[in-house]
Amino acid sequence: MPDTRSSASRPPKLQADAPIPAGTRKLKVAVLVSGRGSNLQALIDACAIPDFPAEISLVLSNVAGAYGLERARLAGIPSGVIDHRGFAGREPFELALHAALVESGAELVCLAGFMRLLTDAFVELWRDRLINIHPSLLPAFRGLHVHERVIAAGARFSGCTVHFVRPAMDAGPIIVQAVVPVHAHDDADRLAARVLAEEHRIYPLALRLIAEGRTRIEEECVIIAGARAPSLAMTNPAPPDA
Ligand code: GRF
Repeated sequence: MPDTRSSASRPPKLQADAPIPAGTRKLKVAVLVSGRGSNLQALIDACAIPDFPAEISLVLSNVAGAYGLERARLAGIPSGVIDHRGFAGREPFELALHAALVESGAELVCLAGFMRLLTDAFVELWRDRLINIHPSLLPAFRGLHVHERVIAAGARFSGCTVHFVRPAMDAGPIIVQAVVPVHAHDDADRLAARVLAEEHRIYPLALRLIAEGRTRIEEECVIIAGARAPSLAMTNPAPPDA
């Protein structure tokens, strides 16, 4: 891969180490999609709230017909297609992706159903500035066909995770998780829908936490300033008196 690490092509420094005072500046975010883009829509809707601390400067897709592109168009967000099939390999594809991201001024990149594996070089280039959403409680059930595998395993709970991206697939410091129960007669579609509703809540939440400068990574764990864990535990099946 050609050297993408010259100072001219490095992503701008993420300024989330220090809190961004409300109303002064919004974090610039790019979103990468390959399909329907319902998580993109959740991010678009959050960014439309006046005091939300982030704004989407670019939506990119590797798939020309992705409905996420239409969502960007309807929201008036610049968008583009970089079709991986037009490149001789992952590296030249990612060089084009990287150039477009830098050009847009993106400080953070959100993967939202982006169905291309990224090289270690690209992931390292955007280290701590690249986040992903995955429809399981990581580190369980990495990879594809998650809901089928959760049901086949007889798990009583599933959920979703927003995490910083590291080179291994679906790995990296966890920012936010939500948990949902698996019901006795779930099929993959029913479980996916229950999880997806939570994805749409936690992706904007994770983005807000980063954009407010409340997250820092220590020994590959995310520390969130001012965060509070819920006090309730859940049991599945629910105990008889619940
Ligand atoms: C979501 O389930 C997300 O967790 C996974 O891919 C799916 C994308 O859905 N990475 P959408 O395109 O955001 O609707």
